Amino acid sequence: MELFVDYWDPDVVSQISEYYPIDGFTTNPKILSSANRPIGELIPEYRKLAEKKNLKAFFQVTADKADEMYRQARRFQEYFGDHLIMKIPAVKEGYKTVRLCRQAGITTCITVVHSMPQALMAAKAGASYVAPYVTHIDNIGADSVEVIRDMITAFDTYGYRCKVLGASFRTVAQVDNLAAVGCQAVTIAPEMFEQLITHSSTNESIEGFQKAWTGKFGSRQIDD
Ligand code: E4P
Repeated sequence: MELFVDYWDPDVVSQISEYYPIDGFTTNPKILSSANRPIGELIPEYRKLAEKKNLKAFFQVTADKADEMYRQARRFQEYFGDHLIMKIPAVKEGYKTVRLCRQAGITTCITVVHSMPQALMAAKAGASYVAPYVTHIDNIGADSVEVIRDMITAFDTYGYRCKVLGASFRTVAQVDNLAAVGCQAVTIAPEMFEQLITHSSTNESIEGFQKAWTGKFGSRQIDD
């Protein structure tokens, strides 16, 4: 499973990459708007980080017409090269943009996906990723796990080389559920990494190890 951090701060992404095996970072216009630094200053840092750590970098077009979306994708491709995954919203102009990008060799992710037809159309148009918004899907009364399982099965059935990138998580259980149905990628907020690997029973056992060790050896370490 590919793992991404959904955040704007290159320092935070870099720090997370020291601890966790991430494949890259994802952003969207809202996330970038929450940055407390100018975007013009951040973009070169994103490139440096992507190159240094060999990370995939997801950026979303802000235009709403295909020719402008495509122009933005081309500019980002020139700057980020193979590290770039251009996020394009699942709207009519977006599907046209994906097809243009495919012809130009630009890797894309159709984003803000809420249904199977949106995902199928994206895969057929040549997107490399589709990003269903898990919490949004659940909030409209559908079952995100079912929807995503069906996407994975359909891509497999039709032989589409398109990965499902689960996005918009609020809980660890949502990530677990997608892993169980073979979702190929997820993007999560920085704070969720520690939540994912923390387990109270693990901590309890570790405390037991420490207690036993220090009871016998005090501050001595295993390599002393
Ligand atoms: C994914 O790439 C999106 O940036 C993100 O997960 C959006 O989630 P939200 O709208 O629930 O914050």
